[in-house]
Amino acid sequence: MTQDELKQQAALLALDYVIEGKIVGVGTGSTANFFIDGLATMKDRIEGAVASSEASARRLAGHGIRLLDMNEVESLPVYIDGADEIDASLAMIKGGGGAQTREKIVAAVARTFVCICDASKKVERLGRFPLPIEVIPMARAQVSRELVRLGGRPVLRDGFITDNGNLILDVHDLAIDDPAGLEIAIDGIVGVVTSGLFAKRGADVLLLATADGVITYDRS
Ligand code: 5RP
Repeated sequence: MTQDELKQQAALLALDYVIEGKIVGVGTGSTANFFIDGLATMKDRIEGAVASSEASARRLAGHGIRLLDMNEVESLPVYIDGADEIDASLAMIKGGGGAQTREKIVAAVARTFVCICDASKKVERLGRFPLPIEVIPMARAQVSRELVRLGGRPVLRDGFITDNGNLILDVHDLAIDDPAGLEIAIDGIVGVVTSGLFAKRGADVLLLATADGVITYDRS
């Protein structure tokens, strides 16, 4: 089975977590795209969707799924999104698509975060995937110096501007022994908008697609 087929399996299983008549939070990336395509089959049974990126909003709209502005929404029963890495505690590295700020905002109001991944994303320890950090452009050099002090090697994502008009630093070589502590430390650097560490608010459910089927991890 290809990686894309695995991603699609996890994504389609996530449709079972969508509550009929309610709004669903939708993530960003190739796995989330499979979810959006599946969601189209039940679009008349949901109130609508909140998107975590312009790309996902376009794909949802292309399927005729009603889009709601995050500011109109007080709470969400469920948020469905992929990850770049996820560990046993369901802490994640996200932001491979540079959308982690909006992803974190939507995840913050969701009651249940369902992470959909192929098996390659499950790791013992976070950090092989460079940690994406969204930064205000004028703070790039200063934030980079602070990240070096934390033991990282920040690399500017070339030619990439986030949906919020900011830059992404991909930080290599970080020792992520304490994901929640590092998330707090990085988010506290002036000029950082959002780190791609999702540890304080990790996933509640992981649907991990393997060659032997989709495994469900549920800590909700
Ligand atoms: C985007 C993300 C994605 O969830 C993450 O990059 C995984 O992407 P994919 O599903 O394409 O493997 O955090 O910012």
